[in-house]
Amino acid sequence: MHYSASLHRYDNMEYRRCGNSGLLLPALSLGLWHNFGDIDSQANARAILRLAFDKGITHFDLANNYGPPPGSAEANFGKIFKEDFLPYRDELIISTKAGWKMWEGPYGDYGSKKYLVASIDQSLKRMGLDYVDIFYHHRPDPHTPLEETMATLHLLVQQGKALYVGISSYPPAEAAKAFQLLQQMGTPCLIHQPRYSMLDRWVEDGLLDVLEKNGVGCIAFSPLAQGVLTNKYLKGIPADSRAASHRGNGAIEENVITPQLIHKLNALNEIADKRNQSLAQMALAWILKDKRITSVLIGVSKPEQLTDSLTALQHYSFSTEELQSIEAILHA
Ligand SMILES: NC(=O)c1ccc[n+]([C@@H]2O[C@H](COP(=O)([O-])OP(=O)(O)OC[C@H]3O[C@@H](n4cnc5c(N)ncnc54)[C@H](OP(=O)(O)O)[C@@H]3O)[C@@H](O)[C@H]2O)c1
Repeated sequence: MHYSASLHRYDNMEYRRCGNSGLLLPALSLGLWHNFGDIDSQANARAILRLAFDKGITHFDLANNYGPPPGSAEANFGKIFKEDFLPYRDELIISTKAGWKMWEGPYGDYGSKKYLVASIDQSLKRMGLDYVDIFYHHRPDPHTPLEETMATLHLLVQQGKALYVGISSYPPAEAAKAFQLLQQMGTPCLIHQPRYSMLDRWVEDGLLDVLEKNGVGCIAFSPLAQGVLTNKYLKGIPADSRAASHRGNGAIEENVITPQLIHKLNALNEIADKRNQSLAQMALAWILKDKRITSVLIGVSKPEQLTDSLTALQHYSFSTEELQSIEAILHA
């Protein structure tokens, strides 16, 4: 059925400035790591993308290897983009990345100029785009000189294949060096994409300070710890969950859901209940409370999850008591 975006799409979303840049991003962004591959329902994928855009989510995040199989999330997104979103291209921020293994041989992994140049060309072709809005180096490369990787990001902007560049999962010192190199070349780094949730707080240990100091935005991925910080696992592992689906490619496995973790999740859920929120809403709100976070990058396997998660934007302040109770549970 023909898609026409909701006329109310900008009524309720909050947009935050990405570091010192001119770009605003929605407080919630949608990632296509899972649920958009060839093994997934394309009707469901389309319904999720339409709902997201109708609710003001202007940012869709991809990577060369998303699927499975790798590349299929970009290809499937490309099909839906062409049919539904072409008239809205200038209202969308589409990102992709390269840095994890994508093809065989020495040129399909990490951070060489050879890999990144070939990979962005492949991504643009799969998605049917002339350019991406943000191109990321997906993870640090211990072997390629940082100068080479950053010069390649700069080159891709010069060539018009990406408007902005970012880095993902770089530790603070390496991130600071990358920012300096990019700044010297005249392509300031727009954004850093780290994992961040109540259950994984490494960014609080220096990275957020480095980002703030350098005027670089932050988009937090896996804010629900891949679905763990939701009502999904409160009583065990349901069959329709990511943990039970054995998708591979970094998806959580059943052994992560221990009885101790389930106990913690139930305790957190009680606090969420008192705030009149679902656990997912509280977990997202807990990240949104920090103004250094530009956007929270969620995944959803069904449109209803997106509807649930969007409500987090209505209440993301916490009392001192609530924060203390959450800390006590997380550190127990
Ligand atoms: N830069 C990187 O290295 C990197 C790495 C990983 C991810 N990312 C990016 O971050 C995005 C998000 O990652 P993620 O999918 O792990 O994020 P997430 O939001 O932590 O987890 C998404 C999963 O949580 C469950 N869920 C979501 N909302 C829910 C709700 N309201 N109620 C109940 N369950 C809910 C669903 O699980 P079920 O599927 O079980 O229903 C969903 O698939 C990715 O798509 C990707 O763009 C980047």
